[in-house]
Amino acid sequence: MSDIADYWQNFIDGAFVDGGAGRLAVLEPATGAHLANQAIADKADVDRAVAAAQRLSSSGAWSGLRPVERGRIVRKMGEYILERIDDIAPILTREAGKPLWEARLEIEGAARYFEYYGNQAETMEGRSIPLGDGYFDFTVHEPFGVSAQIIPWNYPMEMTARSVSAALAVGCACVVKTPELDPLTNRFFADAALACGLPAGALNLICGFGKDAGAALAAHPDVDQIVFTGSVPTGVSIATAAAQNVVPCVLELGGKSAAIVHDDADLDAFLSDVRWGIYFNAGQVCSAMSRVIVQEKVHDKLVDGIVAVAEALRVDDGLALPEFGANMGAMISEAQCARAAGMVSDAEREGAQVAAGGRRLNRPGYFLEPTVLTDVSPDMMVAQNEVFGPVLSVLSFSDDDEAVRIANGTTYGLVAGVYSSQLDRAMRASKKLRAGQVFVNEWYAGGVETPFGGFGKSGYGREKGREALLNYVQTKNVAIKVG
Ligand code: NAI
Ligand code: MG
Repeated sequence: MSDIADYWQNFIDGAFVDGGAGRLAVLEPATGAHLANQAIADKADVDRAVAAAQRLSSSGAWSGLRPVERGRIVRKMGEYILERIDDIAPILTREAGKPLWEARLEIEGAARYFEYYGNQAETMEGRSIPLGDGYFDFTVHEPFGVSAQIIPWNYPMEMTARSVSAALAVGCACVVKTPELDPLTNRFFADAALACGLPAGALNLICGFGKDAGAALAAHPDVDQIVFTGSVPTGVSIATAAAQNVVPCVLELGGKSAAIVHDDADLDAFLSDVRWGIYFNAGQVCSAMSRVIVQEKVHDKLVDGIVAVAEALRVDDGLALPEFGANMGAMISEAQCARAAGMVSDAEREGAQVAAGGRRLNRPGYFLEPTVLTDVSPDMMVAQNEVFGPVLSVLSFSDDDEAVRIANGTTYGLVAGVYSSQLDRAMRASKKLRAGQVFVNEWYAGGVETPFGGFGKSGYGREKGREALLNYVQTKNVAIKVG
């Protein structure tokens, strides 16, 4: 076990600083015990961080660099993180509760964002638009300036990396509000910034409570653009703050995503996706496969297989789970665990059957058994609302149109999956599914390269892929009258 410093500071204008709101205790989800203290920002800290970002932004010291130079620094930050994976992973496991191998995957994913967007820095080219004789016209993509990023606790490093790397690549400066439940490992981005030559003010990392530092950042008049991942109600308040300042925001607000399994699907392949789809990160994934909609004919057989997957998972302290395998860690907090367990009890009262799991483990920490609910109907609360835990709801359908209707029958629309050995059948479904990403025959198919974001209440704007770069720039058209 690595030693963990007792006190972790915020990072403003290239320096580590205390927080005006004092210190917060970060707990270990696997035990509930105290792990470390984190500096907590107040409104004055937010002001200082935004001012530093704005100063750097208007100096041109970052945005004015040749893109290849910016790209190299961004890529180097990813390499820096990856080189320290052995030091960072145990801390991420201890603050977030995930198995050590999942922590390592998250760190690799974070580094990958810096690689991908570092490589994209040189690609933000404008175009020339013909206006006939007498004119020359061209467009440029100018960085917005100060990008405010409010980060959730489910992937604290990967979510920060996702928005910071793209924003930096195009020349923005960032103020990141780290998640108060697991803020510690974000510190390594500050170390990377210092080590890799990122100018002071280009990346500021402040931890604070959502209603205080988070709300102050979202409403700050000098913020030019906002990125948020989290719950729908918080997304609404951030969009409202953005509207007051007339700045754009990207909202990624989770989902109730469904996998449609047809009777001609490869059921064994699907079952290995269940392990990832709903039990990865203990189900605390915005694009989790939280519903399975299975064709009646194969329902019972598939449920047997899903229950076997769930029951095979060993649930334990993430530090005791170094290797990929049939295992799962703790949930992030008492509140999230109690809420998920409560939603399982509510579902039972509504008539669902608990086919596997359903209970909290009888030990300290925030552990919920891998859970499978059957006899779920589309109107039940558990079929409509995000659990954000290791709870899979199984529903059934008879014909293809009904499957799509059920899949589309929530207010969300983040991702969806369709499993069938007939490509035309899968393509018909993928056309009708209201979701920003559709997975055919493999949940989570895609990567950093593929655009990701929601339909409906899952939000708007796209992260990942080349699309995400457009979040951080505004287009300027220059039209020249030539003699
Ligand atoms: P939340 O949306 O309240 O928190 C996410 C982030 O927003 C945190 O950094 C928090 O400090 C910040 N925040 C909270 N209130 C704010 C405000 N008024 N202004 C600015 N920032 C604010 O989510 P919470 O309460 O942690 O979890 C509740 C539910 O939200 C979960 O059960 C899950 O359903 C959903 N969620 C979805 C996530 C996703 O990946 N889409 C991530 C986290 C939560
Ligand atoms: Mg909240």
